[in-house]
Amino acid sequence: RTVLVLNGPNLNLLGTREPATYGHETLADIAALCSRTGAELGFETDFRQTNHEGELIDWIHQARGRSNGILINPAAWTHTSVAIRDALVASELPVIEVHLSNVHKREEFRHHSFVSAIAVGVICGLGSHGYRLALQHFNQLFSQE
Ligand code: DQA
Repeated sequence: RTVLVLNGPNLNLLGTREPATYGHETLADIAALCSRTGAELGFETDFRQTNHEGELIDWIHQARGRSNGILINPAAWTHTSVAIRDALVASELPVIEVHLSNVHKREEFRHHSFVSAIAVGVICGLGSHGYRLALQHFNQLFSQE
């Protein structure tokens, strides 16, 4: 089994980007955490980041029938993109939405997500631990199949 782990724009800057909000961990650290967690649980993680919305959409299309679930931190596209939501629906895969920061205690424009209503669940505010928790939940979903 494989979980596709997708990261949206600006997350490549983690570690140096607004550390008070996003912490000091880099995206490479989170990628390592995901691959370790996947190995522990017995599945593959395919970890990716892009600053190009169309590229993310292409990856979601390709996941259909190939991956078993999508963990996504859509970053700023969370709050703007109907296209990403539609692609996730078209993938017919279970989706878990993750945010490092607690978007609900931040600006009003971060309170709405186009993805949440089509996700299995949403984790926010727990930093990189949210990625680990989401992968553990996928493991639980897989063991019920
Ligand atoms: C984020 C929250 C978004 O509002 C923001 O645009 C991001 C990161 C998070 O992980 O906390 O880029 O998705």
